[in-house]
Amino acid sequence: MCGIVGYVGKQKAAAILLEGLKRLEYRGYDSAGICVQQSNRLDVAKKVGRVENLVKEAAKQRFTGTTGIGHTRWATHGGVTDANAHPHVSCDGKIALIHNGVIENYAQMKSFLLGKGYTFQSQTDTEVLCNLIAYHLAKEPEAQNGTNRFVECVRKTLRHVEGTYGIAVLCVDYPSEMVAARKASPLILGVGDGEYILASDASALVSRTQNVVYLRDGEIVHVTPVSFAITTLDQIDVSPVVDKITWSIQDAEMGDHAHFMEKEIFEQPTALENTMRGRFSEDGSTAQFGGLNISAAEFRQVERFVFCACGTAWHACLVAEQLIERFARIPVEVDYASEFRYRNTPLDPSTLFLFLSQSGETIDTLAALREAKRKGYKALAINNVVGSTLAREADGGIYQHVGPEIGVASTKAFTSQLLLGAMFALYLGRMRDMSYSDGVRLVNALKGAPDLVRKALREAPHIREIARRYAQYRDMLFLGRLSLFPIALEGALKLKEISYIHAEGYPAAEMKHGPIALISEKCPSVIFATAGEMFPKVVSSMQEIKARKGPIIAIVTEGCELPPGIADEVITIPDCHEAVLPIVASIPVQLLSYYIAVERGCDVDKPRNLAKSVTVE
Ligand code: M6R
Repeated sequence: MCGIVGYVGKQKAAAILLEGLKRLEYRGYDSAGICVQQSNRLDVAKKVGRVENLVKEAAKQRFTGTTGIGHTRWATHGGVTDANAHPHVSCDGKIALIHNGVIENYAQMKSFLLGKGYTFQSQTDTEVLCNLIAYHLAKEPEAQNGTNRFVECVRKTLRHVEGTYGIAVLCVDYPSEMVAARKASPLILGVGDGEYILASDASALVSRTQNVVYLRDGEIVHVTPVSFAITTLDQIDVSPVVDKITWSIQDAEMGDHAHFMEKEIFEQPTALENTMRGRFSEDGSTAQFGGLNISAAEFRQVERFVFCACGTAWHACLVAEQLIERFARIPVEVDYASEFRYRNTPLDPSTLFLFLSQSGETIDTLAALREAKRKGYKALAINNVVGSTLAREADGGIYQHVGPEIGVASTKAFTSQLLLGAMFALYLGRMRDMSYSDGVRLVNALKGAPDLVRKALREAPHIREIARRYAQYRDMLFLGRLSLFPIALEGALKLKEISYIHAEGYPAAEMKHGPIALISEKCPSVIFATAGEMFPKVVSSMQEIKARKGPIIAIVTEGCELPPGIADEVITIPDCHEAVLPIVASIPVQLLSYYIAVERGCDVDKPRNLAKSVTVE
């Protein structure tokens, strides 16, 4: 939700900001803008639409300054217009500001400022912030105790703010300086060679430096061409920790692929290898994790898990629930983070929480984590983005190590979460009743997952053909049983988010209780008919669909014999262990959704109304 970039250094800022915005565009693409400090002026270019529109707009001006800020917008307050695009400039022209988040009490602050004669150009909550900083700057012209007046005015303003923000601010009176701050919206400061790059995430700065400081909530950073200093809202100095990003710019590039989503689908075998690397015990009978920070004895006390997440990560939780209950016999409850945070779920002391999030910045997931911790519970996290807020606030956790996921539709992060869910089930199972030999069997099955996914990906040309035949339908059902029910949900989510076809996921047997009313020749069903005890039951569901003329795309495991003529299309996946099946079964639904969206001419990596990480409520 909105991407932020800032630059202070010796190079011309505009080109670096535009390059950073291209990389952050997946966070929001309603409008984009930059502001560059040019001696005693703040020059702005901003435009509705994609960064490419902004590039054309910016070319009309001569940006030569070496300090600047840039923003890609996912609209919250105020429509998608040039005027509402960021950066915003205070009415006295002194302050320019970009913002990711929501200022909840902006209306009160706006009426206060209107009363003082301040004027506004936009309908945004953000513009209030720059005018309020300008107000403080005008009111308190003298520096106090050697402190920087610009920083103090930002600090003073933020003390009045209710809501969330990642901001970067320029001030005409302080050329070559930038002040940035965060509360519940991510910000990273890249420490380069004679330059500093601020960004919402590492993809916007990794081409210039791999040394970064992850800012924390309530921190303000003051950047000059030669140094930076971090303080808190309460004016306490913070000693910065410089971390190293472990991936490079190539990992955030599309290479030969048409879309990031396609790249990330085909990266999955390697991503799974990276997720599991070094995480099996030497005796090959269990998993091992470095950062859980919970002893085996403590794990043995756990009588119940609560898993919380949103969207695709929530689907991964549903699969992990089944595997943990099966292999470790520990009850698991899965909740939407957005619901958990407002419900008053009865909890007992032996409950352990686990939060799943690719980005680690999803606001509802963070709020649910904070609610659990506030109640005194321990909270673990499974998360991909290193240094994310979730990773820092959880008591312990597991990184996914799949590299940057840029496509808005999550793919490789999902299958990696499925793998970690299975490994966590193994880990817990081996602490309880799972035997050594069962552990070894499961480890070997999990180690085989990358090759099975490679095999499943070979069906891509066949799935592309099917996609051509089904791209113009308006509705689709996805049906599966047991651990493939969450994959049906995930297939439906993938299809609707990138192709805008209405899709629903159901447990196959549940169809008779309502969704069957939708079945007709106009509503195809994608149904998992895989080997195992559920196979005959799924075939019965297929018969019921066929009897009502519903087209069927069956996803079967090798060797499964369907009754002749029952399926209109058949996609085969390799037969595999039950813990690996959800991972392998995800591949055809990802590919089907992707190719259907391409066929319909949709903007796969930037679906309408969506943004990669949802940092506003
Ligand atoms: O970063 P997170 O895993 O917390 O994101 C959660 C959801 O917003 C995310 O999975 C969303 O549903 C994706 N667009 C699905 O493809």
